[in-house]
Parts: sequence; C-alpha cells; structure tokens
Amino acid sequence: MSTPHTHDRFAPSEEFSAHAIAGPELYEEAAADRLGFWADQARELVSWSTPFTSVLDWSNPPFARWFHDGELNVAYNCLDRHVAAGRGERIALHWEGEPGDSRSISYAELTEEVCRTANLLTALGVGQGDRVAIYLPMIPEAIVSMLAVARIGAVHSVVFGGFSADSLRSRIDDAGAKLVITADGGWRKGKVTPLKPAVDQALAARGGAGPQETVEHVLVVNRGDNVIDWVPGRDLWWHDEVPVMDAEHHPAGFPAENPLFILYTSGTTGKPKGILHTSGGYLTQAAFTHRTVFDLHPEQDVYWCTADIGWITGHSYVVYGPLANGATQVIYEGTPESPAPGRWWDIIEKYRVTTFYTAPTAVRSFMKQGREIPLARDLSSLRLLGSVGEPINPEAWRWFREIVGAGTTPIVDTWWQTETGAIMVSALPGVTTLKPGSAQTPIPGIDIDIVDEAGAPLPNGQSGLLVVTEPWPSMLRGIWNDPERFVETYWARFGDRYVAGDGARRDEDGDVWLLGRVDDVMNVSGHRLSTAEIESALVAHEFTAEAAVIGADDETTGQAVVAFVIIKSSQLEHAHQVADVAAVLRRHVGEQIGAIARPRDIYVVEELPKTRSGKIMRRLLRDVAEGREVGDTTSLADTAVMQTISSRLRH
Ligand code: WTA
Repeated sequence: MSTPHTHDRFAPSEEFSAHAIAGPELYEEAAADRLGFWADQARELVSWSTPFTSVLDWSNPPFARWFHDGELNVAYNCLDRHVAAGRGERIALHWEGEPGDSRSISYAELTEEVCRTANLLTALGVGQGDRVAIYLPMIPEAIVSMLAVARIGAVHSVVFGGFSADSLRSRIDDAGAKLVITADGGWRKGKVTPLKPAVDQALAARGGAGPQETVEHVLVVNRGDNVIDWVPGRDLWWHDEVPVMDAEHHPAGFPAENPLFILYTSGTTGKPKGILHTSGGYLTQAAFTHRTVFDLHPEQDVYWCTADIGWITGHSYVVYGPLANGATQVIYEGTPESPAPGRWWDIIEKYRVTTFYTAPTAVRSFMKQGREIPLARDLSSLRLLGSVGEPINPEAWRWFREIVGAGTTPIVDTWWQTETGAIMVSALPGVTTLKPGSAQTPIPGIDIDIVDEAGAPLPNGQSGLLVVTEPWPSMLRGIWNDPERFVETYWARFGDRYVAGDGARRDEDGDVWLLGRVDDVMNVSGHRLSTAEIESALVAHEFTAEAAVIGADDETTGQAVVAFVIIKSSQLEHAHQVADVAAVLRRHVGEQIGAIARPRDIYVVEELPKTRSGKIMRRLLRDVAEGREVGDTTSLADTAVMQTISSRLRH
C-alpha cells in the first residue's frame, strides 16, 4: 500500500451534520454501557414477538448467545411491519436487468411474493432448520427466496453464481440442502450465462460411495429463456408454483439464535468454511450499521449497494440491513460495462441514487476508463459514498470523492468480514473527520485492538494483528459442521479475543489503517480466495505434480492469483503436445472452483523454492511475480532454484 497521507482531512459539512442520523453521543452511550447500548438498538430497530430479557450469554466462549430468550421473525421485520405501519406503497426494490428491463417492487408487493414463496417452501416439506441452497443471478427472486427461507425459520446457503458445479456440489453436501433455488441463467456481458446446467451437473455427480442425496427439489426461475434440461418430479418452475400459492402467511416467531444462514468463505485450507449466522443479533447489527453508517433517511434516500447476494455484503447491505430499515434501494443484475462503460452512472442518474456503496476495485477500474464517463452523467443526487472489500488507496478515495461525489460527499470506508456479519470499523458520516485510506474508528459498541504476535496490545504507529476484544451481536456463531475449526481458526491463539486475520496499525490519532491479510487468504477484486484451495484444484489435474499459488499486487484487482506449477515427469510428453498448458490449467481451475479463481498467470517451473523443512517460500515467488529483485534466499534448501525460476520468467 502507498504511504498514508495522514495530513489529508475532510471535516463533515455543517449541513450534513445537521441532518445526520448518527451523533457523537452514540460513542459515549456505548462506552458507558456496551450491552445496554446493544439492547437499546435491538429494541428500537427490531420487532420482537417475544421480548428478550437476556442480552449476552458469554458463559461458554467463544460460543455466544445474544438476546437468546427473545423471539422474532426476520422476514416480518424486513417486510410486514413496514406495510402494517402504512408504508406498503414505498418502493423496496428498483430492479434493473442487464438488457434494460426493470421492475419497481413496493414493500406490499414484496411481502406478498415472499408469503407465496414461503407457502410453497412449506408445501415442499421445507421447515425450520432445513437448509436451502440459492444459486441465482441478481434478480428480485433472489431476495424473495432468501426472505421466504428466513420467514419459515429455515437456513439459506447462497452460492455465488460464478462458482462452478463442483463448488456448488460441495456446498450443497456440507449443508445437506433439501432444496436448490436457481434460474436458467442470468444476464452478464450481453448474454445469458447459464446456471441450471451447473445445478444439473452438481446433482448428477453423486457417486455411489458418497453420502445420500439430500436435494429433493430444484425450483427454477425463468430469467433468460434459455433451453435447459428438465428432471420431471425433481424440477419445478417458479412461475408455475409461486403465483398459485396463498398470499397470506403467518410469520411465526423463532428464537433469536435460530440459524438464519450459512455462507461459505475461503480460509487458509483447501476447504471453504460454512460461516453460520443467526437471527436476532445479526439483524440488530446489520440494521444499526446500515442506518448509522449510511445515514439512512428512508423517506428520501435511494440506496444502492453493488454487491452480489452471493457475498456477505449482499446479505447484510442488500437484503437484511436495508429492508429491516425500510429503505428504497436499487439492485442491478449485470456488469458495469454492459452494454457500454458508464452503465452504473446511468443507473444512478435514472433512479436518483443518493447513497452508493461499492468496492475499491470498481473505483480503480473506473479511474482507468477515465473521468469523462462519470462526468457526462448527472450524479448530483449522490450525497454519500461507501467502500468495502479491501483497503481503498488514497488516490482512489480522492478520485471517488472528486469525480463521483462532486468533491463534497463523505466516503465511509467500512472494514468487516463474512465472519463479523456487519460493519465493525468505519467512519460515521456527519460525525467523523474523514481521512482517505483509513477505515478509522470502531463503530459504537465494538471493541477492537491491535496486538503483537504474543497478544500484547501495541501503541499507535506499530503494525500488528487486528483482534476484536468483546463479543458483538452479529458475530459468527460457528463454522457449520465444524466447531473445532471455529475455535482453532479464530480464538485458539489469544483465548477469548477474535483474530480477524488482518494486519493493521493505528496512526498518531488512533485511526485504524488496514494492511491486508496476514494469512494465506488472497483478496482479488474484494473477493476472498484461498491459496490452498486453488493449489489443490491445480494438483487435481493430471498434469500437475506440485503447485504454489500467491496473491501478487495488481493495479486494478488489488491482488491477482499467480500460480507456479511443476508438471509430473510422466506427463511431460503429454503436456508438450498441448499448445498452451497454462490455458488448460486455468480452465481447469475455473471448472473446479469458478471463474473468479482462475489464475491471472500460470508459470510452469521445474522446482519450487523450499526451506530445508520443505515449506514453500511464497515470499520469494511473490518477488518474482511482482517483478522485484528476489529477496533473501539463504534459508532455501537449494539456493539456485530462484535463479532458475527468475531467469525462466524473464524469457
Ligand atoms: C478485507 C467482506 C480493508 C479484509 C465484507 C477482510 C477490508 C476481508 C475492508 C473480508 C476494508 C474488507 N479495508 N480491508 N474496508 N473490507 N476487507 O469476508 O482483509 O469477503 O478480512 O467480507 O476483506 O472479506 P469478506
């Protein structure tokens, strides 16, 4: 990361502060009584069918229970209560399809559609605690599906549409999903990218020796009129089944700790982790942060978060936070360049978007395309910008504010993770004096620290590990099927402090600067990828003897996947016949994991740099991939290896 420009400061305008939802007193209230503060938020922002009396049960760390004797229905909170309060006509979703079709759906209409779908799920035998896999493009049915699952107390597992059949299969199996909701395909870059074939392939891949198939039905939305295969009895069309269902559905209350969803994310091993979130605490923090960090005035604002529902940002800041708060929001199906660069700005202009939440990688690619494109649109409705996914470099921050935000909008840089469920560190607009590149301050009610390897707190100015020192309402409750891995990954190191896996430093004012991952997790375009997972995909190919994957700095995507592979000697001849071994392996990774994991570069090498104990020295590979002078090689078992690799790559 470039050197922080700590001299740059942007104080909130008086006008913004005068109408801001958040005020400095929030920090004081939370500091005076942290649990009382969260209890207040839970009572104010969430409707409970049975009020809670217990705020936090931390008697068995790290297994937390928040508001556990309370009961609620998450979907009721996102839908019915707004209708009951006379706001049924308010638009919940302005949906924009990539080919230019669009639908505006009111809270009353969304409630009805979710009720019908909930009735269908029940008719299909899905009940409380059952798992439903959702593999959909960004269409309204994706949100309807999530809320319908939540409404009946079942658990959704959304799988990003860019993941392959293999990835889908392993997620379906790990969760034991009973139902899969998918579409024929979704619009991307001017054509319909198929989804249903991946579901068919995943479900056909059930080997004789594997566990029993858990999936009973596949519910299919017709989005793109693609021709698809059909399994009678198993497959059902959404448009046949949902509209004929009753539009009334009673939202039963479920315990606050009823599981709400599982979301798989990459860790340091080859196997993705099923991060488990529950209901009451999650909804409380999602709603609180959405309201205060995005300064939500639901009667006036038009909010747009560009994340796909396949990621945590889509869960917390497209579905649960905004809808719990009764917001009007935009969702968009396609890519920013379809049909031409500038599509996002067209959407902002069309819907008069006020609040825009996106990722630094998108900002950097817009910078590359040139300022003329956004400047040619009327973006004057924007009043607040947000960033998530990776540190936003100060250059991109300034460009974002100058060009998109007319030099006046605040930018909130929000640090959080799939595991934290909701925003943890961020400025509060109208309160915080902004500093480009820094995520700044833990939100009220959140306690973090920066510690050294031994867990000792570090003074300002020193870099260390980011830990969360107190349990928080939207914290993960575990890893699905793997309580040991949960303890081992996040807690074993420092007892009851949560280790985020990010490096960080506080500056002289105490503002937090994130420094990237400290483990073998890469961040490519704001998406988490595991080096180990891609390595195991590579070695699963018949050509590969060994593979090492690293995240190399990349100007647009933050990091890029770079792989070094050794071809098996028995396969050398075969590999030689293939014109482009790298292309074959890249495609293979796409099939095994998904297109997002395909390495940018694959280098075929004869050896990998290893220590005497056999550990691959990724640091040296990173030097090579980033075009630097190779660092200290004295701990290598064979010091000549790096010379061979570097000289090869230069040719
Ligand atoms: C990184 C996304 C710096 C970080 C919500 C974290 C960030 C990982 C920021 C989580 C930010 C996310 N500044 N780094 N504002 N936001 N990260 O689970 O490394 O997909 O650990 O959640 O993204 O990625 P995840």
